[in-house]
Amino acid sequence: MDELEALRHRRSVRAFEDRAIRTDVQNALRAEVAARNDAAGLHIQLILNEPRAFGTFLARYGKFANVRNYLALVGPASPMLADACGYHGERLVLLAESLGLSSCWVAGTFSRRRCPAEVGPGEKLAVVIALGYGAAPGARRSTRAVEQLGALPAGMGWDDAPAWFRRGMEAAALAPTAMNQQNFRVTLVDDTHARIAPTAGPYAAMDAGIARYNFEVGAGRESFSWA
Ligand SMILES: Cc1cc2nc3c(=O)[nH]c(=O)nc-3n(C[C@H](O)[C@H](O)[C@H](O)COP(=O)(O)O)c2cc1C
Repeated sequence: MDELEALRHRRSVRAFEDRAIRTDVQNALRAEVAARNDAAGLHIQLILNEPRAFGTFLARYGKFANVRNYLALVGPASPMLADACGYHGERLVLLAESLGLSSCWVAGTFSRRRCPAEVGPGEKLAVVIALGYGAAPGARRSTRAVEQLGALPAGMGWDDAPAWFRRGMEAAALAPTAMNQQNFRVTLVDDTHARIAPTAGPYAAMDAGIARYNFEVGAGRESFSWA
């Protein structure tokens, strides 16, 4: 499964089978975590066989079951952290999907206190991503129309927009976002440039980072640049 197939196939899954992640899959995830940390100066950690962070009433109420494996997205506490975690986390989510794992981004319905991730001085735990073999396929969810998520130059119709922009928008619309709010907007600047920005909402910057990654996969990085 390539990244585009993984992106189309992925849905949030909150209940997992009671089985350990295969060793080869663990190793592939660890290697990509190390690469993301090097590339972005993050401190992402793969936490395995740890049931406590999702062993709370809140997590069970949120329909989480058997969550024992997750990524803890930690990094320097700065205004850039949410976007970086969104972008690099989505790369890890798509890798996990292509390796047969399901996932769910979780900012609220887990216990930060019980999470054993190492958070150094000046660092922050931004979000976690639950991982595992899904107990059942995730449900399809609604999405805003791409016309609502994207903006074109005045007078241009969607049929006249460059093919890369339309492909990018379809992929961005499939990005997981907090409470499915899709708090990002993408603007076509010219034939080879687009711009993405968060709108309002507590996790808008993270949503925009996730959507930015998906957009690049859909559009093809060779087809355009960010303005
Ligand atoms: C930044 C972020 C935070 C999220 N936090 C939670 C959460 O605390 N609890 C939860 O059940 N789902 C959470 N989600 C999952 C979203 O509800 C889910 O991605 C969204 O409804 C879209 O559905 P899909 O992922 O199946 O496409 C979060 C997603 C994102 C991107």
